[in-house]
Parts: sequence; structure tokens; C-alpha cells
Amino acid sequence: MEKCRVLVVGGTGYLGKRLVKASLAEGHETYILNRAEIGVDIDKVQMLLSFKEQGAHLVSGSFTDHQSLVKAIKLVDVVICTISGVHIRSHQILLQLKLIDAIKEAGNVKRFLPSEFGTDPARMEDALEPGRVTFDDKMIVRKAIEDAQIPFTYISANCFAGYFLGGLCQPGKILPSRDSVVLLGDGNKKAIYVEEDDIAMYTIKTIDDPRTLNKTVYLRPPKNILSQREVVEIWEKLIGKELQKSSIPKEEFLASLKGLEYAEQVGLIHYYHVCYEGCLTNFEIGNDAVEASELYPEIKYTTVEEYMKRYL
Ligand SMILES: NC(=O)c1ccc[n+]([C@@H]2O[C@H](COP(=O)([O-])OP(=O)(O)OC[C@H]3O[C@@H](n4cnc5c(N)ncnc54)[C@H](OP(=O)(O)O)[C@@H]3O)[C@@H](O)[C@H]2O)c1
Repeated sequence: MEKCRVLVVGGTGYLGKRLVKASLAEGHETYILNRAEIGVDIDKVQMLLSFKEQGAHLVSGSFTDHQSLVKAIKLVDVVICTISGVHIRSHQILLQLKLIDAIKEAGNVKRFLPSEFGTDPARMEDALEPGRVTFDDKMIVRKAIEDAQIPFTYISANCFAGYFLGGLCQPGKILPSRDSVVLLGDGNKKAIYVEEDDIAMYTIKTIDDPRTLNKTVYLRPPKNILSQREVVEIWEKLIGKELQKSSIPKEEFLASLKGLEYAEQVGLIHYYHVCYEGCLTNFEIGNDAVEASELYPEIKYTTVEEYMKRYL
């Protein structure tokens, strides 16, 4: 069977570049939106050129030029958007409404995967301000997709390993200490950690799979469902040393947000919901959704222990 053709929007980003690689590795004809605004960003240009050498096609376009988006979309069957959505870097989730307008006009897309790849926004109706903006914006995008009757798959990737494991689940840290760690609350709430290349590979597997059509796909690799304490234990075993532990109670954590920059507050609220409330694991997957490691057992995902070895 012929493999579907894929357009990656945001292809030079933290996750996007991994999706391009996974798409090429799986043998899809892969297109990348080459935005005019990249200009003389030498890192992005060089990355795009290297993807071209690996067989990808670069398609010129811009979010400020509707017809350029329509033209790019008409070349493919599937559009995957990985536009930025982390406030401390950049947050452009609502720009996807322009992409949706273009997908509607093009009329040929068999599947659209919007930039989600985190906590399922549909479960975050009660999220705290200001962190809820991420979920609210992602829900606005979902509504536009569904109103336009565009076939979709939503990827709920849970915690990117690099962000969460690197810092032993402590916000503001991405390298693990060999001396001490601050536990969020009792450190016992379970979260789910997924290596970013694995997220990309699971995502690519879903794009032509009828089982994932108009569904949310949760990424829950069973060995990677762990509490902060369990992550710390794995690290302690690897370094052969026990860390000094302190803990920050919920009220103190929330009070510490006052006076911080808006972008920092957004990120901290996300940690709050994951680590104090267990928002990634406090529900069973229903009939309207599927789980990726069950669908694709052939993917040998990276376990937390394997991942942590990179920090030794
Ligand atoms: N679950 C987690 O732990 C976690 C962690 C991080 C991110 N995420 C989610 O993953 C998704 C991707 O995030 P990311 O960190 O990979 O994003 P990123 O690297 O910050 O940015 C991705 C791409 O967004 C595009 N972009 C940025 N500003 C733009 C603008 N003004 N106009 C048009 N395009 C723009 C760029 O595309 P070009 O390549 O075209 O320049 C950029 O490469 C988001 O939905 C985010 O919420 C989840």
C-alpha cells in the first residue's frame, strides 16, 4: 500500500524536527513548510537543507499568505502541526486557525494532527490561571477542526522526557543534581514520561491507522508511569548515591508564583497539575480514545532508566 504524504508545519522545532525524521524513516513522502519568516536564521536553514538531503521536500509558505498554505497542503494527504506552545519559548497555538482555514479550502486532507503533544486539554476544564491558557487555546483549535469536519488525531504525549526527567521533575531545572532534590508535595503522584523521538515515532504510526481516526491517542508506555520519588530512586541507583530531599507543599508552591513573569507562571501551573494533582494518570482511557503502546507494541520505547543514563 502506498504510504501517505505528510506535511510537517513547524519542522525545525524541538518536536517538529523529530517528526520529520520519523516520517522519513517510515518511508513517507515528507514535506516541510519552509516559512519565509525564517529569513537568515542559519540554524533553521541548515537544518532544512539537511532534511532535504535526507529526502524531504521544502515547500515555501507563510502564515501571512493563505494561498501559500493552501498550495502546500494540496501536495499531501496528512498535515502535522508542531507549532510552538511553551510560553517560556514561544506560544503560537492559535495561529493554527489559519492553517485550518487553508485545510478547509484545500479540501484534500485525510488527517490533521494539531500541535498538542501534552496533557489532554479536554480534561483540563478546571485548570488554574494562567496555565490554563495552553489548554483553552488547544480546545479552540479542536473546535475549529471539528466544526470544519476535518479528520483528526489528537496526540496526548504526556511529559516530554527532556523537560521533566532531566530536572527530576523540578520546574526550572533540566539537568539532574547529584546532591539534592525538591519533591513537589509528597512526590508520590504518578506522571508519564516519553522520550521525544518515541513521541515522534508513535505519532507517525497513527497517521494512516484507521483505529486512530477522529480519536485521542494517549502515549502511556507502561514502564514510564512513575512518581517523582520513583524517578529520583532510578537516578540515585544510577549514581550510587542518595540525594538530600526536601519538599514544597502545595500552598507554598502556588504562593511562590506571585510576582513571577507570566510565562513562568504558565509553566509552573502545568507542573502543579501534573505533580500535585496527578492529572495525567487520574483517569482511565475511555472508548473515544486509544493507547499508543498497545496499538504499536513493535516500538521499543526508551525507558526512564535508559533515558537517565545520558546524564551520567
Ligand atoms: N508535553 C510536554 O512536556 C511538552 C513540552 C514541550 C512542548 N510541548 C508541546 O509540543 C508542541 C510543540 O512544541 P515545541 O516545543 O516543539 O515548539 P518550538 O520548538 O518552540 O516551536 C516549534 C515551531 O513553531 C514554529 N513557530 C514559532 N513561532 C512561530 C510564528 N510566530 N509563526 C509561525 N510559526 C512559528 C516554528 O516553526 P518553523 O520550523 O517553521 O520555524 C518552530 O520551529 C506544542 O504544542 C507544545 O505545547 C509539550
